[in-house]
Amino acid sequence: MVKIAIITYSVYGHITLLAREIAKGIESTGNEVSIFRVAETLPQDVLDQIHAPPPPKDIPVISADEMKNYDAFIIGIPTRFGNAPAQITNFFDSTGGLWQSGGLYHKPVGLFTSTSSGGGKETTLRSALSWVTHQGMLYVPLGYAKVFGELADISANQGASPWGSVLS
Ligand SMILES: Cc1cc2nc3c(=O)[nH]c(=O)nc-3n(C[C@H](O)[C@H](O)[C@H](O)COP(=O)(O)O)c2cc1C
Repeated sequence: MVKIAIITYSVYGHITLLAREIAKGIESTGNEVSIFRVAETLPQDVLDQIHAPPPPKDIPVISADEMKNYDAFIIGIPTRFGNAPAQITNFFDSTGGLWQSGGLYHKPVGLFTSTSSGGGKETTLRSALSWVTHQGMLYVPLGYAKVFGELADISANQGASPWGSVLS
């Protein structure tokens, strides 16, 4: 059995929604999955101004050190101007100890994002690859081989990308 951590940042819940669906898929394969969120960096008065709901109580904040307990990762990164939000890069920056010890070396990692217009979805996912590469992790993209029909289907707005799942 493989232990998988889904690591998220979500202000309005779209990434959390996707994470819960991905977790159901992993559970259906008989593997173990836990959903986490990274620490918030915005002060509460700013969160109030942007009408951010409170974070889900059942999703704990993960520390870099806790990544040692997992075999593989799926990281949910909402799109911010075609990039990862500072909360995610703040978390990546906290993994220097794991980088030094090789704690994430050759552990598989997949990525997913969420956007409003779809603009910047792939650059957001690509932006995480520098961290993935420096850690020596194994990036597992969605690709086309198993999902060509779905990705090529333009009859509905589904937003997905070979780089990873996308909620648009
Ligand atoms: C500062 C900021 C920048 C954003 N930039 C983009 C963008 O480049 N493209 C896009 O389609 N949506 C953009 N959005 C919309 C978010 O990506 C979208 O609301 C997000 O997927 C919501 O995720 P969440 O509900 O998990 O927080 C932006 C939102 C904010 C607050």
